[in-house]
Amino acid sequence: MNIDQYSHLRRLRLNETLRDMLNENRLSASEFIYPMFVVNGAGVRTPIEPMPGIDQISVDIAVEEAQRAMESGVKSVLLFGIPDKKDATGSAASSPDEAVQQAVSAIKIASPDTYVITDVCLCEYTDHGHCGIVRGNDVDNDGTLPLLADAAISHAKAGADMVAPSAMMDGQVAAIREGLNDAGYSNTPVMGYSAKYASAFYGPFRIAVDSAPQFGDRRTYQMAPTQAREAMREIEADLDEGADIIMVKPALAYLDVIKEASMRFDTPLAAYNVSGEYSMVAASGQAGWLDQDRAMMEVLTSIKRAGADLIITYSAITAANILAKG
Ligand code: PBG
Repeated sequence: MNIDQYSHLRRLRLNETLRDMLNENRLSASEFIYPMFVVNGAGVRTPIEPMPGIDQISVDIAVEEAQRAMESGVKSVLLFGIPDKKDATGSAASSPDEAVQQAVSAIKIASPDTYVITDVCLCEYTDHGHCGIVRGNDVDNDGTLPLLADAAISHAKAGADMVAPSAMMDGQVAAIREGLNDAGYSNTPVMGYSAKYASAFYGPFRIAVDSAPQFGDRRTYQMAPTQAREAMREIEADLDEGADIIMVKPALAYLDVIKEASMRFDTPLAAYNVSGEYSMVAASGQAGWLDQDRAMMEVLTSIKRAGADLIITYSAITAANILAKG
């Protein structure tokens, strides 16, 4: 047969309008969530070296950033806090005077339509850098749960719209759900970091928040990169515990897991385009080795194509501005 006479896929790629008409996966700023690193103080903007364009910021600047995000079309932010003092139990995590709690209230006052999500974990707050309290040589799962619930409640009290536990403790979603309900926040949704892998791609984040574990690593609570079926069990566990949104993290090296989760579960699915994924693209872009903006949009598109409904990304504002230009 003469193939030219029949099917010819290039027929549908002939010009920009047609390609645009047939776009299968259109990114939208409304599905981006912009993470921010908040510190105590005022007027602080400290660049995070491995994450060009991302800074540690004080509460006043976080308000400006949330507004800048909103202007670009990004309506949601995810807050991480960096305390002045870390201790063994991460006690600052639930303090109403800490940067995250303060930033939540300040952002909700200045920009009420911004949807403020808080990361709930202890690793930024513990002096040993683990995501829970330590007993012997390991993290004490059940002893950590009430502390995570307290942190989540303190965020809700400050006005957080949603909380997102990332500690990978078994039962963390249930503990937080119960805590929120008992404290009168039954309408505050929980986004579980359900399938979170022990990943080298968190490297830049750990520099950003100074949370590298001082001994051992996170492999007793975060998943091994080899595990795909186990990820489904993690997600099911979060759903049983009442998670409103589930998550796969990181995104780029786990697109298969995102795809599988999106086909298997009807719960909204988030994917976290983590710090190392951001840094890889930014560093290559800065070296002139690739077109940073195009590579970034391609990465975000791949995450959407895999089936994510929400994408947590440090590129949110830049990407939204590129989308707005058309
Ligand atoms: C833990 C947490 C981490 C990230 C988000 N929440 C780090 C870790 O588990 O070590 C990583 C995010 C990123 O790399 O962008 N609280």
